[in-house]
Amino acid sequence: MPRRLIILGSTGSIGVQALDVVSRAGDELTVVGLSAGRSWETLVAQARAHGVGRIALADRDAAARAAEAWTDGEVLAGPEGLVALITEGPCDLVLNGIVGSAGLVPTVATLGEGIDLALANKESLVVGGELVIQLAQATGATIIPVDSEHSALHQLLAAEPAGTVERLILTASGGPFRGADADTLAGATIEQALAHPTWAMGGKITIDSATLMNKGLELIEAHHLFGTPYEQIDVVVHPQSIVHSLIQLCDGATLAHLGYPDMRVPIAYGLHYPERVDVPVTPLDLAAVGALTFEPVDDTTFACLRLAREAGIAGGTAPCTLNAANEIAVHAFLGGRLRFLDIAAVIEQTLERLPAGRVHSFDTLAAADGEARRVATERIEALGSR
Ligand SMILES: NC(=O)c1ccc[n+]([C@@H]2O[C@H](COP(=O)([O-])OP(=O)(O)OC[C@H]3O[C@@H](n4cnc5c(N)ncnc54)[C@H](OP(=O)(O)O)[C@@H]3O)[C@@H](O)[C@H]2O)c1
Repeated sequence: MPRRLIILGSTGSIGVQALDVVSRAGDELTVVGLSAGRSWETLVAQARAHGVGRIALADRDAAARAAEAWTDGEVLAGPEGLVALITEGPCDLVLNGIVGSAGLVPTVATLGEGIDLALANKESLVVGGELVIQLAQATGATIIPVDSEHSALHQLLAAEPAGTVERLILTASGGPFRGADADTLAGATIEQALAHPTWAMGGKITIDSATLMNKGLELIEAHHLFGTPYEQIDVVVHPQSIVHSLIQLCDGATLAHLGYPDMRVPIAYGLHYPERVDVPVTPLDLAAVGALTFEPVDDTTFACLRLAREAGIAGGTAPCTLNAANEIAVHAFLGGRLRFLDIAAVIEQTLERLPAGRVHSFDTLAAADGEARRVATERIEALGSR
């Protein structure tokens, strides 16, 4: 029997690559549902091409237009439509490739049903943290990370008995502004920030990579996924993006996961785990690569990484506040309403205004997310009129 797969965010960078992986999977996977935010034409085309009978669009107008244009299947509407896509149909595996904290509710719906989750949406773990992990443990669902660094760590840690791993080391490409000082960053343009040197990704994560917030979100993600204390997770800059992460063991050994930067590798791992399948990527040729270099990370100039580590250590609602403020600030930067360096300023000021509170439920997180968005929007208006 093929595993029945739902791809959330199928119109995005992860989603499109996931469909490519599935189309090479033969009989092992069958796509039973697809979702997007509002790109209904692309979503309908994907449903037709992959013989999918149910789709969901978070945007209700887009869902209405899709339902008019596509009468061969069912179109679900709104955030609750995404949840219904997961909970009402037969499904063995969900790939969450939604961007931002909008991915949290579908993550909760998936794990709540006891369905295995291939997780690209790192914001689910940044915002939901302990509650998401507890839910998976309660229902027995497995979370398989798709983020390349965490996929690497998942593979490296699988072979190690408990108690032998001393440190996790996340690699960071450094993004387009690697080595830049604050004066240079003050004039950073949208085009420069979107020009990632090694990975082709969606807009939000590309800006997060330029500010190093992406690595900060990944730090929090790693903490929750692997239950590792923050003081045992390091970040090192590695411009070639060949080494995807490392672990250090108690006997002095350090193990690394290597490969060319291609998200189809961790996506295929996430979709086929615990099996491995052929992925049509160029085998790594270290002699052709020549040199692998590493540098310390500058979290003074790139304050987002420091802010994320502090928010992770503070715990409670702080990572949720950090994430919401970041989403609002990145949106404003991409809209030309905020300077690059002010992304970190907005996040820092929002965290100062909203100290970490205890998380009792997902409702606490929804309230903290809304409050952080409101404060961050105020800060952007204040900074804009400086
Ligand atoms: N891209 C990568 O290589 C990569 C690598 C590692 C991790 N990730 C993580 O994977 C996630 C997706 O990244 P991406 O680069 O693929 O993003 P992306 O290209 O921007 O795609 C995002 C997807 O989410 C959908 N979406 C947007 N807002 C939504 C909402 N409110 N409700 C439901 N769906 C919504 C989009 O639909 P529309 O097309 O309608 O907007 C699209 O299908 C992020 O969490 C990112 O950090 C990505």
